[in-house]
Amino acid sequence: MKALVLSGGAGTRLRPITHTSAKQLVPVANKPVLFYGLEAIAESGIRDVGIIVGDTADEIMAAVGDGSEFGISVTYIRQHAPLGLAHAVLIARDYLGDDDFVMYLGDNFIVGGIRDLVDDFRQARPDAHILLTHVADPRHFGVAELVDGRVVSLEEKPQHAKSDLALVGVYLFTPVVHEAVRVITPSERGELEITHAIQWLIDRECDVRSTIISGYWKDTGNVTDMLEVNRSVLETIETRVAGTVDATSEIIGRVRIDRGARISGSRIVGPAVIGASTEVVDSYVGPFTAIGECCRIEDTEIEYSIVLRDSALTGVRRVEASLIGRGVEVTPAPRNPAAHRFVLGDHSKVQISS
Ligand code: TTP
Repeated sequence: MKALVLSGGAGTRLRPITHTSAKQLVPVANKPVLFYGLEAIAESGIRDVGIIVGDTADEIMAAVGDGSEFGISVTYIRQHAPLGLAHAVLIARDYLGDDDFVMYLGDNFIVGGIRDLVDDFRQARPDAHILLTHVADPRHFGVAELVDGRVVSLEEKPQHAKSDLALVGVYLFTPVVHEAVRVITPSERGELEITHAIQWLIDRECDVRSTIISGYWKDTGNVTDMLEVNRSVLETIETRVAGTVDATSEIIGRVRIDRGARISGSRIVGPAVIGASTEVVDSYVGPFTAIGECCRIEDTEIEYSIVLRDSALTGVRRVEASLIGRGVEVTPAPRNPAAHRFVLGDHSKVQISS
């Protein structure tokens, strides 16, 4: 069995972060979200992994390499434009050959791994197996209708959903899906939809099974979900102080301080991670915060946030529920004139509290 990991796409919902980097590499507790998926795939015993890459190919390839660090062997498959999840399957035909495969969306996060699912699929070999989860607002998802536990229909982002069961970003297929992705046509939004391919299988009375997962799942496509996934992963970290903490600082709860990080005159309330070589000076870092490598947090209060590497926050009170990119600087404006001064990238979002 192989895996097909989708790491192309446009990532419009995570702009401006995705103007300059791949959304699958946005860190959760200081580790790219994609890595959690690759680890889950390796843990399920799959070795051969095809990764679909688009405009951000170079960055994904630099981060994942040949996959040996994950115990997998990676082959990169270029998608010239994000033409849909089923299009990714279409262009991976040669790579996948006649093997069964698990398709994993590179920006999805699932707690509990996929080992049991992959084992069950290997044994039962239905034509396809999808994962579902109950969601509050199904209009944003692919939605499945079940009758007596059987999948009878799928709809992509329906206005009036027939159920609250959304498709989770992990799908298991036998090679019969290749026939489906060849015959379907692009949807109104111009994409080859995987929901249409699976519907095609259902219409031909193929055996399409489903599992409703009770565990935690999030599509990290937007900032709110990204922060929420970060929160849930930080809940599981262990205290480890590899950096230095001076006598005037206080570390409360589970906090990971990576090598070369320096904490002085500060209070850090976990769960939180402070990346390698980052300095936290005269500041408060509150729960559910992940500060990347080589940052400087000075005279600042921050919580429930993600800060990517090489950024500096100085004299800022207070930052909450924020996703801050790489190499960003946030500082107070000079006293006169009392004004906000911005240099913001395209599609930036700023909320001012004064
Ligand atoms: P989506 O989140 O559905 O799409 P997107 O990345 O274009 O994001 P947005 O809606 O914010 O513009 O994609 C799910 C995953 O699949 C994600 O990791 C990107 C990847 N993908 C591809 O690799 N190729 C594609 O053609 C599409 C549509 C997505």
